Amino acid sequence: MAWLKAGDDKSTKWVKEQIDILNQKGWYHSIQLPDGQVIEGVQPIDHLKARIARFPIPEDLSGKRVLDVGAWDGWFSFEMERRGAEVMAVDCIDFEKFRIAHHLLGSKVDYRVLDVDELAPATCGRFDIVLFLGVLYHLRHPLLSLERICQLTREMAAVESFVIDDGLEAGPIAMEFYETDDLGGQTDNWYGPTTACLLALCRSAGFVRVELGEVVKQRAHVACYRHWEPPPLHPTSAPPVLKAAANNRDWTNRFPKNKDLYVCCFFTSAEPGLTMKDMRIELDGYGVPALSTATQGNDGWQANFWLPSGLDPGLHEVRLRTVNSLHSNAVPIEVLPAANSPIPF
Ligand SMILES: C[S@@+](CC[C@H](N)C(=O)[O-])C[C@H]1O[C@@H](n2cnc3c(N)ncnc32)[C@H](O)[C@@H]1O
Repeated sequence: MAWLKAGDDKSTKWVKEQIDILNQKGWYHSIQLPDGQVIEGVQPIDHLKARIARFPIPEDLSGKRVLDVGAWDGWFSFEMERRGAEVMAVDCIDFEKFRIAHHLLGSKVDYRVLDVDELAPATCGRFDIVLFLGVLYHLRHPLLSLERICQLTREMAAVESFVIDDGLEAGPIAMEFYETDDLGGQTDNWYGPTTACLLALCRSAGFVRVELGEVVKQRAHVACYRHWEPPPLHPTSAPPVLKAAANNRDWTNRFPKNKDLYVCCFFTSAEPGLTMKDMRIELDGYGVPALSTATQGNDGWQANFWLPSGLDPGLHEVRLRTVNSLHSNAVPIEVLPAANSPIPF
C-alpha cells in the first residue's frame, strides 16, 4: 500500500520529521573517510550501499566515465570514483558539504553546479553510466529531462524515482501532478508517476531496454539501456532491406533541428506479422524505440520512430533488424541546423 500520498497529513508529518533529522545531522549522505571515521548523515553507509546495489553497476569501473546528476553530498559520486571511474558530479545547489567531503577524500571528481536543463553533450561530453537518483520527480519537465539524460548516456542510466504505487509493472500508465506543496508539504515535488508510467517515460525518452529492479517504499529502481540486446547468433530470418528513412512532414531525408519529427523507415522483409516489439531500429548505433509498424503489402513494411532530440547537425545513420535477423543496410538522414530560435529549454 502506498504510504506517501499527496494531500495526506501523515505523509507531510513524515517528510517534516526527515527534514528535522537532516537539520540536526547537517549531512544527508554519510561519508566514510580514509582513516575509517564516518561522518554520519541521514542515510547510513549501509543504506547507500544497498541503494546502489539495486543497479547492475560493475565493481570495477576502470576506463568508464560516470555522471552523477543531483549529487547532493556526493556519496554516489565518490563511490563511483572508488570503483575506478572518471566522475562528473552536478547539482543545482553548490553544496559546501560536497566540497568538504571532496577535500577530505582527496577526490578528483569534477564537481559542477548545473541544473539538469543545462546538461548537454557539447559541454559535459557523454558518459558510460549516468546516475539519476531521486531527482526526476523534482523536475517540472520530466520527459524532457529524461531525454537529456538519454543524450548524455552511452550505455546505461540508473534511474531511481518516487512512484505512487508499490511497483505495479503492468499497472496504469498515469502521473499525478502536484501544483503546489501537495506531496509531503514540499514545493519541489512536481510529479508522481505510477511504476508503469516511469518505465514508459524512460522508454519514450529513448532508452530501448528498460528493466525494473526492486521497488522499495515507493522508490523504483530502473536500469535504462541505450543498446538493443545483441543480434541473434542463429538468425531465423534474412536481414531486412532498408529502402528509405524519411521525414514524415515532407518525405525527404532532411530533419531540421529542434522540431518534433518522426522518421518513417520503409523496408522489405519476408517475415510475416511484424509488430513494434519485433523491431530493432538503430540511429548511429544506438537503439531507438519503434512507435508503429504497418504492412505495405507483399514484403513491404513501414516502421516509424520519433527523432531523438539534441542530434548534432550533419549526417546520421539509420539501420534496423528484427528480433530474428541481422542488421539491414544503413541509410543516411541529415539533421539541418536549427532554422528558428531554439526552444527555450
Ligand atoms: C532527493 S535529492 C537526491 C540526492 C542523491 N542523488 C540521492 O539519491 O541520494 C535530489 C537532489 O537533486 C538536486 N536537484 C533538484 N533539482 C535539480 C535540478 N533541476 N538540477 C540539478 N539538480 C537538482 C537537489 O539539489 C538534490 O541534491
